[in-house]
Amino acid sequence: MARVENKVALVTGGASGIGLSSASLLAKEGAKVVIADFNLEGAQEAAKQINEQGGNALGIFLDASKESSIQEAVEYTVEQYGKINVLVNNVGGTNLRKDIDVVNLDLEEWDRLMDLNLKSVLLGSRFAIPHMIKDGGGAIINTTSMAGFAGDSVRTAYGASKAGVINLTKYIATQYGKQNIRCNAVAPGLILTPAAKNSLSPELLDTFMRYNQLPYHGEPDDIGNTVLFLASDESKFITGQTIKVEGGHYLSNPTIPDFKEQMNG
Ligand SMILES: NC(=O)c1ccc[n+]([C@@H]2O[C@H](COP(=O)([O-])OP(=O)(O)OC[C@H]3O[C@@H](n4cnc5c(N)ncnc54)[C@H](O)[C@@H]3O)[C@@H](O)[C@H]2O)c1
Repeated sequence: MARVENKVALVTGGASGIGLSSASLLAKEGAKVVIADFNLEGAQEAAKQINEQGGNALGIFLDASKESSIQEAVEYTVEQYGKINVLVNNVGGTNLRKDIDVVNLDLEEWDRLMDLNLKSVLLGSRFAIPHMIKDGGGAIINTTSMAGFAGDSVRTAYGASKAGVINLTKYIATQYGKQNIRCNAVAPGLILTPAAKNSLSPELLDTFMRYNQLPYHGEPDDIGNTVLFLASDESKFITGQTIKVEGGHYLSNPTIPDFKEQMNG
């Protein structure tokens, strides 16, 4: 039996990158999947590829910064497939030109990112939970970021909103656990999605690699496989957790390597 057989999943931002990997792996392991994305063509193309490989998927439009659009995506999933067992709140992002330091960041961008990265998780969950309860339970998986754990010189709104996702995950897990709803999050480090590959300089990638404990970069399937595990009954006693999938990047004290000789006596 496949790992998520008989489950119905809605994946937001599923047309590319981490969302696409999550949707594809869930479908491969037997789930019926609705791929909801601002990029409608991309969502439909992703669904087509899944269907051609023997899966069962639909692609629809979603604007995750709008309450009505999120509600429509959840209702569409239930109308088409009769239920929703798995919700992957994956949409998120930032704008590096506007989301800078505290004194200078653009306040409209702050509000936009709180809606896109944090409120979208609240709303997706709020609309899906009543259906999950009716069906005897479900699994919610939120994509946060390692930026939600650390402070940084830039991306203030992104980091703050992703930290919010980590704690909102615990609130959902606490409030609906008794109704058999589990809620967990995945915190990716740098993941080489096609978009990241195209936009990041070789120097930046080298620097990231230097601080990874493992000798390679993260790929979308590293997150997709974690999402699949958290969606499946294999993780049935795990709730409220954020799993860091970041190659050990944030494991060690960054000061020590610079003073290695001194530290070795
Ligand atoms: N790639 C990384 O290194 C990385 C690291 C940490 C966290 N993350 C998080 O992972 C998640 C996915 O990121 P990714 O790198 O796969 O991004 P991506 O850009 O490859 O994919 C994001 C998808 O979301 C869609 N989208 C954007 N705005 C939307 C909206 N308003 N409504 C609906 N869909 C929308 C895009 O069309 C796209 O298909 C995000 O929450 C991101 O913050 C990514």
